[in-house]
Parts: sequence; C-alpha cells; structure tokens
Amino acid sequence: MTMVDIEEFVARAAEILVNSRHAVCLTGAGISAESGIPTFRGKDGLWKKFRVEDLATPEAFKRNPNLVWEWYKWRMQLVYNARPNAGHFALVDLETMGILKCIVTQNVDGLHLIAGSKCVVELHGSIRRGRCIECDFKVTFDNPPETIPPKCTKCGCILRPDVVWFGEPIPSQSLNKALELFHKADVALVVGTSGVVYPAGYFPYIVKEKGGAVIEVNIDKSAITPIADVFIRGKAGEILPKIVDKIKLL
Ligand code: OAD
Ligand code: ZN
Repeated sequence: MTMVDIEEFVARAAEILVNSRHAVCLTGAGISAESGIPTFRGKDGLWKKFRVEDLATPEAFKRNPNLVWEWYKWRMQLVYNARPNAGHFALVDLETMGILKCIVTQNVDGLHLIAGSKCVVELHGSIRRGRCIECDFKVTFDNPPETIPPKCTKCGCILRPDVVWFGEPIPSQSLNKALELFHKADVALVVGTSGVVYPAGYFPYIVKEKGGAVIEVNIDKSAITPIADVFIRGKAGEILPKIVDKIKLL
C-alpha cells in the first residue's frame, strides 16, 4: 500500500465515519501492540510461545493455579507499565466528536479506559482484577499481586484473574451490550484483531449483513478483511490519528 493509497483510504474512512449514525469500534491486541503489549497470534505472539491449554482455560487453573498466576503476573507487569498510544487516543477523539458511540474490546489491558474513552465494553474482562473462585467477590489490583495466588479479602479463598478463558462464556451483560451495539451500528471500525475468536469476530459481520459499512485498520489481512469496505494496512497508532485529522478538515 503506497502513501497515496493510504491517504485515499483514510479519506474514504473519514467520510464514512462522518456520515455515520451509529459507529461502533471493535478492537483487539493490535491496538495495544504499540504500547509494548504482545499480541497473541503474530510472529512474536503469546500463543507462539505458550500453550492455551496450559494457561488460559479453567482446567489449567484447576490443575495449577500458581503456574497460571505466574503467567498472568508477568502479563500484568507489562500492562501496568504500559501507557495508551496514539491509536487509543484517536478513538477518544472520535468519541468526543460524537462520531464513535462505543468501543467493544477483546483486550484485557484497560488501556481504552485509561486513555479516556467513556463507553468501553471489555468483552474478555480485565487483567487488572481478580475474582474469588468461591464467592465471586471482585478485587481491583493497584499493582500486580506480590503473593501468588492472591486471596479473597471476603472469604479467604483464592482469586482467579477476572478474564474470560477459552471454553468459558462471555459474561451475559457484556455480551448483550456488545450485541445491542453492533445490531444498532451502521459502521463497524475494526482495529488490530485477527477476528478469529468468537463471538467478537462475528460482530463486524452483523453490521455488514444489515447493509452497514466495515472499516478495518490492521498491519495484515485478517478474518474481517473479506467483508471490509475500506481496509487500511498500517499501524493503529499511525492510521487512526490520520483519520481523526482528516475528519477535522471535513
Ligand atoms: P491476535 O493476536 O489474534 O491478533 C492481533 C491482530 O493485530 C493481528 O491481526 C495483527 O495483524 C494486528 N496488529 C498487530 N500490530 C498491529 C498494529 N500496530 N496496528 C494494527 N494492527 C496490528 O489478537 P486478538 O485478535 O485480539 O482472548 O485476539 C483475540 C483473542 O484471542 C484475545 O482477546 C485473547 C486471545 O486468545 C482471550 O484470551 C479469551
Ligand atoms: Zn471470596
């Protein structure tokens, strides 16, 4: 994709967004890559080095809670040291302009909220929280926990990361909110996701089936690209600010 192509696609995306009635954004690990948080399926992705079934399933946690917590503690350290990047901030701008109605994210890093986005659905939970396996009490960590596994302050039982693991359903409140948003949407802005994990990967298809437009920003093709009306190949932290700048000129 040449610079001229990028400018043209950015202009098209800006125009679609400006004329939208209810634009909703779906984000994945790619938007946090420029904040130094590894993605899952890229060349240096987490799932290239670690096995899902050892670390990110309820069975893995039952088998070895300490191993799972060690891994989450390491990821928490990366997340707690990370700052939102230009991509996150551009989405804040789009919301402030009244164009973007909400972000549905698969990320557990909390960076959209830290950047200042108001409407954020954290579909896969948050790595910044623990949840009691016995009484469901939730704890927000100011720092990664010192001792592992962390204990519930209510009942003394152990906490698990408050995230969605493989084989687990999305909490119904988040899922319903996300479905409602995408059913209402006339534009889906899809940023930095491979689109292979469901149900999130299906959301842009809802918009497309209803005759809406799909705009995608990704450094590579994804499972969403075949239905993208505008596919902009590039980094979220570079392309999203360009879209915002273009909209400001319209
Ligand atoms: P993936 O790692 O599957 O995909 C990341 C996507 O981001 C890829 O399509 C990359 O090409 C793209 N990408 C990388 N850097 C980028 C950048 N700077 N700008 C734009 N795009 C970039 O991550 P997700 O799609 O988020 O689930 O993965 C979905 C889910 O699978 C995660 O939420 C997690 C994982 O297993 C659970 O843990 C339940
Ligand atoms: Zn408890």
